[in-house]
Amino acid sequence: MHNAIKFSHPNSEIVVKLTNKGTLTIKDTGIGISKSELPHIFERFYKVDSSRTFDIDTGSGLGLAIVKKTVDKNGWKIKVKSEKDKETQFIIQF
Ligand SMILES: Nc1ncnc2c1ncn2[C@@H]1O[C@H](COP(=O)(O)OP(=O)(O)OP(=O)(O)O)[C@@H](O)[C@H]1O
Ligand SMILES: [Mg+2]
Repeated sequence: MHNAIKFSHPNSEIVVKLTNKGTLTIKDTGIGISKSELPHIFERFYKVDSSRTFDIDTGSGLGLAIVKKTVDKNGWKIKVKSEKDKETQFIIQF
């Protein structure tokens, strides 16, 4: 959720949806992630070019690595769909 805030345009809408099938979706219409960068975002300390961020606090590149570890440890699933300069969606299946 913090990523959705950091990497999207001020005043844009972020949608967080939890279904009773155990699916959590966080969708933003921000800077997006390119196809070539997508495979790396769950690596520790990986950050896409910080000059593209709208927020000064760009972070350390650890958030998604921790999310992925938590997801794996619990046997959940995580998926990401993104289009550069358009939108990003993280879907966690509990
Ligand atoms: N919703 C998003 N939209 C665009 N890019 C994203 C999004 N979420 C993650 N990214 C990209 O993936 C990188 C890794 O994300 P991650 O959450 O691990 O690190 P961070 O947010 O930079 O730092 P931290 O979470 O440790 O504060 C980010 O730096 C950013 O480049
Ligand atoms: Mg983060």
